[in-house]
Parts: sequence; structure tokens; C-alpha cells
Amino acid sequence: MQTIHALNPLRRAIAELRENAGAGCRLALVPTMGALHEGHLTLVKEAQRRADLTAVSIFVNPRQFGANEDLDAYPRTLQRDAAMLRDAGVDVLWAPDAGEIYPDGYATNVSVDGVSAGLCGADRPGHFDGVATVVLKLFNQVRPDLALFGEKDWQQLAVIRRMARDLDLSHPHVDAIHGVAIVREADGLALSSRNRYLSPAQRSDAAALPAAMRAAIADMAQGTPADAALATLRSTLRGAGFDTIDYAEMRHADTLALARAPGPHIRLFVAARIGGTRLIDNMPVQ
Ligand code: PAF
Repeated sequence: MQTIHALNPLRRAIAELRENAGAGCRLALVPTMGALHEGHLTLVKEAQRRADLTAVSIFVNPRQFGANEDLDAYPRTLQRDAAMLRDAGVDVLWAPDAGEIYPDGYATNVSVDGVSAGLCGADRPGHFDGVATVVLKLFNQVRPDLALFGEKDWQQLAVIRRMARDLDLSHPHVDAIHGVAIVREADGLALSSRNRYLSPAQRSDAAALPAAMRAAIADMAQGTPADAALATLRSTLRGAGFDTIDYAEMRHADTLALARAPGPHIRLFVAARIGGTRLIDNMPVQ
């Protein structure tokens, strides 16, 4: 695995890898902010299944963090991450220097209307502009044929898919954006780099989040009206030690339009805070 920090060496390395792999080879990109866990390795495995070459990017993107968020505290574990990716058989680790992403005088913003509003977009103004901007830059730098993102950040995936459609990214590159299913701990908690902020007691309480979501989905399947099921979900989370519930809503999987009842393509989305840590999760509500 080559670890590369500057754009020209990246372009040279990718050109060489593509040439050696032969005509028609496909390159997958897995964009990350590092602090890698089993969920990221699942993305890598899926990338390797779908493509001949795999690149992973690691860049903690300041533009997607709000003023009061955890940019400074965000775990930076490049050496450990690089070792994990090498062991996983990744071809290129693109860990750009900050100047390769936001050079002096940088002035461009990518903003995706509609799907960026609501859910995390309401609580984290500017977050999805930051995500769309950096992902477009990473696509332009790496020029992958496909890219993979975790479904835990479902709204992020919807934003990136919308951007890819709107900006015609499929030609000549990035003809597919793949979502990869959430990887969960044994007690159901979705893997996240932010789980490491949880104290042991908070970590144990956090399992109430997926459990309460499953219970709400089961209640609705038994005929409980959605409003009542979501009210129970909120009070269960408060009782389990969550301080704030930012949202607990059902939305259409693609458009993210609000939904009043379960159905095909409807998902339940929850964001809730325990201690200082904000956890998100989503599940289908058939
Ligand atoms: O999901 C993430 O890790 C980040 O939001 C991403 C897509 C790498 C953009 O910084």
C-alpha cells in the first residue's frame, strides 16, 4: 500500500496502478475521516469485491464541523489506520495535506438543497455543504470509478447521490455510489468513530438507541400509530440516560421527505445525545 499526501504523487501512483491493472480496470474510493473501525473495513471489503483497485482517503474535514463541534477532539490515528488498511490489502491511502484540499484563498462551496435540510442538516447548519464540498474534491483528486459510503450516515449518502446526479459525475468517473449496510456491535449499537467518546456506563446505556428503534418499528407493525410509537421511543431514550433527542422521524429513503406512516422505502431516523456524544442511527420501517 502506498501512503500519499500530495496530489501529483497521487495522480502518478493511480495512473501507474491503472496501467499495471490493465484496460477496463475499476478503481473504488472509500472516503473516511480516519479513526477506522470494523465498519470502515466492511466498506473496504465491499470496495475490493466490486473493483480491481481500492483507494481509501483519510481527511478530517474542518468544513463539516460546526463551531461548537468536536473538530479538535476528533480522533486522529493515522499510523494505526494505515496499518489496518495495509493489512486489509488497500492499494492507496490518500491522506492529503490540508493545503491539497483547501489551498490559500479557497472560496468554493458545494451546496445540495432539499436532502440536506432537516434531520442532521437542521441541527448542524453547513455540515452537508462541507461534506459535499470535500467529497467532490476527493472525487476529482482520486477520479475513482465508484465510491462507497456507510448507510449509518444515510442522509450523507442521499446528499452525495443527489450531488453526483446533479453534477453529472458519472462521466467519465464515479458511475456508482454504493451504500453499505450498517455494522453493529453485539448489543445493536451502530459502529461509529464517535463511540470511543462514551464512558463505559454511557456505552452500555447507548444500546437503548437501536433497541428503542426496533421496539418502535415493532409497535407500528402491530398497529400502534406512528406518533404514539415515536413518543414512546423518545421517553424510552430519556429513561435510558439520553439527555437530548435531536430528532426521531420517519422519512422517505431517497427524497428524505417526512413520512407519517411506515411503508416501502420509509426509514426511521434518530439522533440523540448521551453525555456530550451525539449518536445517529436509521432503520427501515416496512
Ligand atoms: O463519513 C465520513 O467519514 C465523512 O463525512 C466523509 C464522507 C469522509 C467526508 O468528510
